[in-house]
Amino acid sequence: MEFSTQTTAALQQLRSAALGVGVFADGVLTPAADVIDRASEGAIRAVLKTEFKGKAGTHLVLRNLPGVKAERVIVVGLGKQQEYSAAAHAGAEQVFASACIGLNVGDGVSALSSVECEGTTLRSRSRALAAAALRAGYRYEATLTKDREPAPRLKKMLVWTTRAKAAEAQEGLKEGSAIGNGVNLARLLGDLPPNVCTPTYLGETAKKLGKEFKSLKVEVLNRKQIEAEGMGSFLSVAKGSDEPPVFIVLRHAPAADKKDKGKAPLVLVGKGLTFDSGGISIKPAANMDEMKYDMCGAASVLGTLRAVAELDLNREVIGLIASCENMPSARANKPGDVVTSMSGQTIEILNTDAEGRLVLCDALTYAERFKPEAVIDIATLTGACVVALGHVNSGLFSKDDELANDLLAAGREAGDTAWRMPLDDAYQEQLRSKFADMANIGGMPAGSVTAACFLSRYASSYRWAHLDIAGTAWKSGKEKGATGRPVPLLTQFLMSRSEA
Ligand code: BES
Ligand code: MN
Ligand code: ZN
Repeated sequence: MEFSTQTTAALQQLRSAALGVGVFADGVLTPAADVIDRASEGAIRAVLKTEFKGKAGTHLVLRNLPGVKAERVIVVGLGKQQEYSAAAHAGAEQVFASACIGLNVGDGVSALSSVECEGTTLRSRSRALAAAALRAGYRYEATLTKDREPAPRLKKMLVWTTRAKAAEAQEGLKEGSAIGNGVNLARLLGDLPPNVCTPTYLGETAKKLGKEFKSLKVEVLNRKQIEAEGMGSFLSVAKGSDEPPVFIVLRHAPAADKKDKGKAPLVLVGKGLTFDSGGISIKPAANMDEMKYDMCGAASVLGTLRAVAELDLNREVIGLIASCENMPSARANKPGDVVTSMSGQTIEILNTDAEGRLVLCDALTYAERFKPEAVIDIATLTGACVVALGHVNSGLFSKDDELANDLLAAGREAGDTAWRMPLDDAYQEQLRSKFADMANIGGMPAGSVTAACFLSRYASSYRWAHLDIAGTAWKSGKEKGATGRPVPLLTQFLMSRSEA
């Protein structure tokens, strides 16, 4: 999709298939809506008297308004003016973008970002529009033989602004485009069935990104090479399946002339279980299909590296993905097995369904070689995190207050929020094992915390944070599908650490 600015001063003169203007609840018109209302002799105020109340999440399409050149005006409800926020603005842009897709227009102009709003800038508002437009255009069709809806025609989305501010808006559009493309890549990988999106497929996807973006170098380790690295814990999970495991290394290195010299890389580590049956500790049958989403941590790493490469961030960023299936078989892990991780620490596997930590621990050890400034792992790690935080916030675990606060702030800025969870040493007790250095489960209490505690034992040589995205990476029910979270949070965080 193409993003640009529209600086025609007189809004009513602007030619477009769809022009978006905002109205607050209780009939307060934004300046853009007021201009259109006056030009059309009160068309907007007229509908405010009857069917449209300006509630957040609602919109109304007005066609062929007299005195207005746009083919359609999409009036978007902004909610109460006192409650208008960054999130409300982003929601309004999403409504506008979805309406453009629904109406199947080829281009749209949003005047919504011209409304000032606390905690935002024109750049961040333009970013929200571009990300929303790409999101709205996402269609899953990889394994459908007939398209259920017409292919979206929306090719061009413009921000209405002044000439003086066009450069700032353009900056935001560029960022939003990278985020939206990264989100949609993560969604597609999450949505693909597990017989298509295998570890090998994730490796191929990474290699394709490496071909598409000059700044990305990609390496995909096979089982032999993973063995040579000594990843005994990761391989213990992988060996239960006939599907071969991969360990993916993506490296974004900015061009030498703009390289941020002296700065250590930032490393992202993703859990890439392309299917988690639970293994011998097998899961119940109901909704087991949803465990195809157990690679959404890996998908977010691929999506974020895509965004980083599209933006060509002035910062070295490394993505690591440990990918395999967790299956029951004669070669699968058994409860009671003791395995040796790459770090040398031994693990007693008391539940083969707590496999995410078993693959991540070796990836965290692998990350040491980059002498990173910080490592962030992303994983659909525990059902307990869904119980604690639902589908609203990702769980954030870190002992590093500065890193944690930066990640929380990035999440707020991107509208992809996380909530900080505890990581006190006292929880480590629960991982005590009689037969190994640690057990892989800590019992029922605080299940997402003990999972994070397990990982912390492999992340002691650098600054580290863990995101549990079990509740946020996908939706079930009517809107079933991957969300692409936390690509926006991660990309925002990396952008904030890349400013020259
Ligand atoms: N992939 C699951 C976590 C999960 C569960 C994500 C439900 C999304 C929804 C993970 O591998 C798992 O099975 N965790 C177990 C850990 C337990 C055995 C300690 C869990 O959460 O039940
Ligand atoms: Mn599991
Ligand atoms: Zn899992």
